[in-house]
Amino acid sequence: MKIGILTAGGDCPGLNAAIRGVGKTAMLQYGMRVFGFSYGFTGLIENDFQELTENQLSGILTYGGTILGTSREKPFKKEDRFVSNSNGNGVYTKPDRIRENYKNLGLDCIVCIGGNGTMKTANLLSQEGLNVIGMPKTIDNDVWGTDITFGFDSALQSATDAIDRLHSTANSHRRIMVIELMGHNTGWLSLYAGMAAGGDIILIPEIPFKAEKIVECIKVRNAIKKPYSIVVVAEGIEHGSTKNAATYVADIIKEGTGFETRETILGYIQRGGTPSPSDRILATRFGAFVAELIDQQEFGCMVALHGNELTTVPLSEAGTQTKRIDPNHELIRHARFIGTSFGD
Ligand code: F6P
Repeated sequence: MKIGILTAGGDCPGLNAAIRGVGKTAMLQYGMRVFGFSYGFTGLIENDFQELTENQLSGILTYGGTILGTSREKPFKKEDRFVSNSNGNGVYTKPDRIRENYKNLGLDCIVCIGGNGTMKTANLLSQEGLNVIGMPKTIDNDVWGTDITFGFDSALQSATDAIDRLHSTANSHRRIMVIELMGHNTGWLSLYAGMAAGGDIILIPEIPFKAEKIVECIKVRNAIKKPYSIVVVAEGIEHGSTKNAATYVADIIKEGTGFETRETILGYIQRGGTPSPSDRILATRFGAFVAELIDQQEFGCMVALHGNELTTVPLSEAGTQTKRIDPNHELIRHARFIGTSFGD
């Protein structure tokens, strides 16, 4: 069999472990030929690929990023469906070009490693008749149908380490520190890092907050002789302003309390660097499982982790919804027990 692999969307630690997991299993266990497409769906559209050898997959397990490159190309965007050339004649749409390249290379399956956007495209390609398997990765942990995505644990470590470091400087200056974490429209990373690093207030998109509750919480802490506070803010919180989330929240605190307040936006630090041991293991398990599924000709699905069990969910489910945090999530309930505020 011949299989293609691509990595799409924002990068994250563990992508190379995943490529290695699929590729080595496909080659060594099943004698498949493996083709790596460059820069996500762009490579599939432009027919930009290389056949991977087992040697190329050695030594990459611990590297961050992706040896294949990635992009946010979305081939099913409305404006890309039909493109006219200067003579007014229709030229290939991107999905057509993908289908043709897939057919000409004689692929038996294309493995799409990515987050929500990638699963959406993978689902549409599957509906177009291609054999597709999805593998969920993202630091946001917001892919529907899997308990966890690889990349999340590594980002959690970086974010936790960053918040840990804020405690000492906040304490020295008796300041309020606001730190903004990624997560797109969900608060998984902020909730977990906030809990792991002892955030006093955690603001996530899934729980609407009130400015006065944030101010009240910080004033109460000050009154009971807590000299500083740490506020963890997910980038996706609703605030209807053009400011970034951290600045918006820091301004509320400055105005409402008069306390010295500083903001930090952690940014791409969260996406870079070597994968954590858990992410290396998860990406390798997902990868080897994908190759098994290809051998069994099980397509149109995404690999997933339920508890500690590998399983699959249909792409038609994973590619059409986002996994958001239930406001009654056990972590939130127990964080409240120990006095963490969610600004509500
Ligand atoms: O999906 C991963 C992510 O890092 C999100 O947390 C963030 O909102 C987004 O990607 C940033 O995207 P870009 O790399 O396009 O700036």
